[in-house]
Amino acid sequence: MSDNNNKGTKENLPWVEKYRPSSLDEVYGQSSIISTLEKFVETGKLPHLLFYGPPGTGKTSTVLALAKRIYGEKLYKNMILELNASDDRGIDVVRDKIKNFASTMHIFSKGFKLVILDEADAMTNVAQNALRRIIEKYTRNTRFVILANYAHKLNPALLSRCTRFRFQPLSNESIKERMQVVKKEEKIRLAEDAELSLLKLSNGDMRKALNVLQSCKAILDFDDSDQDNGQEISLEMVYECIGAPNPNDIETILNSILRDDWTTSYLTLRKISSDKGLALIDLLEGFIEILDKFELKSEARIEILTGLSEIEYNISKGGNENIQSSATIAVIKNGMEIQGKS
Ligand SMILES: Nc1ncnc2c1ncn2[C@@H]1O[C@H](COP(=O)(O)OP(=O)(O)OP(=O)(O)O)[C@@H](O)[C@H]1O
Ligand SMILES: [Mg+2]
Repeated sequence: MSDNNNKGTKENLPWVEKYRPSSLDEVYGQSSIISTLEKFVETGKLPHLLFYGPPGTGKTSTVLALAKRIYGEKLYKNMILELNASDDRGIDVVRDKIKNFASTMHIFSKGFKLVILDEADAMTNVAQNALRRIIEKYTRNTRFVILANYAHKLNPALLSRCTRFRFQPLSNESIKERMQVVKKEEKIRLAEDAELSLLKLSNGDMRKALNVLQSCKAILDFDDSDQDNGQEISLEMVYECIGAPNPNDIETILNSILRDDWTTSYLTLRKISSDKGLALIDLLEGFIEILDKFELKSEARIEILTGLSEIEYNISKGGNENIQSSATIAVIKNGMEIQGKS
């Protein structure tokens, strides 16, 4: 396993770097993109590329692995120019860098070099316009790989010069598979419910999953530094690291609103919120998720949803948290009363 060979140097890296795919087949969950890229490489016909899609889905990783595949591990660094389009907003800087890079043909060159333009969707329209001319000018010995989160923010003329690949949010399966490798390598165990929540909260973003897992591991190391075995990451730790409310807390509060009298449910809500540092907005999202699964009459559902959405709006306008908390209880209790009527 390649990760093992470089242990000494890789040990202190953040996990997102340590576990960055070192080859195209280590990019998970984007198989059709990878196989198309492989074909381009095999036939030696690489077009200009555009990779777009949400964060943490492997765009940067894929282009780096692609460069390694084309030029080999040793050479690839000399053959690519990575530009952060949003840092170097001045298109003149970009133009000069590309010009210098493209004009020095490398002795081992495979005919072209790669220019990687990250965060291209943050470039101004003027800069994007200038870029399309630059792309044309240097097509003879460079290929451009444009990386962006949103394709619609890119100039159509720029888009039409590239072959587009949309990176989908990663499936839970793909993230799980990758986590398996990390867990083994780092000798950590993840409780079943903790893993499910980690996958759900990562929302298809592998970077997020890795970062949370690394923070959880740090908590473990801090808690019991002398025992290496039996370390298990719990559900609570995942929620703590991700800064999301624990669904058990949300459920306790909601149950209290559904069953207890007014004062008890208000006190429960305030107590758990302040103990766990929960904001009312987190509670609302959690309540709606749980209530979605309830079988409710449509009148009751409408009452609750309109009520809660009004409260959400009020919070966003700076409404008082105590007043809005009471209103939340009122809305849910009222909805349940409607539900109870035949
Ligand atoms: N498909 C994937 N397979 C394996 N690891 C991945 C994948 N996607 C992301 N990762 C992990 O997440 C980290 C971040 O991924 P990467 O930098 O490729 O994301 P990105 O799509 O370029 O995101 P952004 O839009 O924020 O730039 C990588 O270092 C890698 O460890
Ligand atoms: Mg990236």
